Amino acid sequence: MQVRVFDNKDEASQAAFEIIKDSMANGAKVLGLATGSSPVALYDKMTASDLDFSNMTSVNLDEYVGLSGDNDQSYRYFMNQHLFNKKPFKESFVPNGLATDADNEPAHYDKVIEEHPIDVQLLGIGRNGHIGFNEPGSPLDGGTHKVALTQSTIDANARFFANENDVPRFAYSMGIGSIMKSKKIILLAFGENKADAIKATVEGPVTDHVPASVLQNHKDAIILVDKAAASKL
Ligand code: GLP
Repeated sequence: MQVRVFDNKDEASQAAFEIIKDSMANGAKVLGLATGSSPVALYDKMTASDLDFSNMTSVNLDEYVGLSGDNDQSYRYFMNQHLFNKKPFKESFVPNGLATDADNEPAHYDKVIEEHPIDVQLLGIGRNGHIGFNEPGSPLDGGTHKVALTQSTIDANARFFANENDVPRFAYSMGIGSIMKSKKIILLAFGENKADAIKATVEGPVTDHVPASVLQNHKDAIILVDKAAASKL
């Protein structure tokens, strides 16, 4: 696991942009993408660039159960707004929050991932160390699953909804096993409220209590952080 500390979010996002650009120049065809505030500056750089994604496939990490892609809090909507509407990909996969066969959606999404092996997976991190929506206690080798969100995650995401009761209680998430199969992984974390999670991820034991700690076992995982997120290292 490689850790790189930057003065600020913009510099770290620029470094992430360069890694994606180099990977594409070296033949990467599938990007694993993330939502949340952490990748937004990177997406801005991607949309402002002359990179062409029209031959690329994207596979997103997660989606809230019960929200349609038109709902402005869904992750599909987020991706459309921040990236896909400006830079269309050949195909863009996000779990279907309204899947009619909800029991089958995890297996269906696993098939999507299997058919589109991820070259570069982008990750944010939750305050409790979650990646995607793999909350503490998630199996470190699992596939896509339906997750009951923890109170910590519901609280962290409540700011985006009119009130806390509107925050979905369940999500579909790519599993940690699938994330770990990506050839390269970039994790972005900014701000002091990520400092504990980054310390546990980088310096703690590999444990399902801190899902991101499993990245210590990946052969090409790069953690890009600002000084505040690195402040407890
Ligand atoms: C949500 C997402 C994660 C994301 C996390 C952190 O829980 N499911 O993929 O990493 O939020 O979000 P932020 O980058 O806004 O701190």
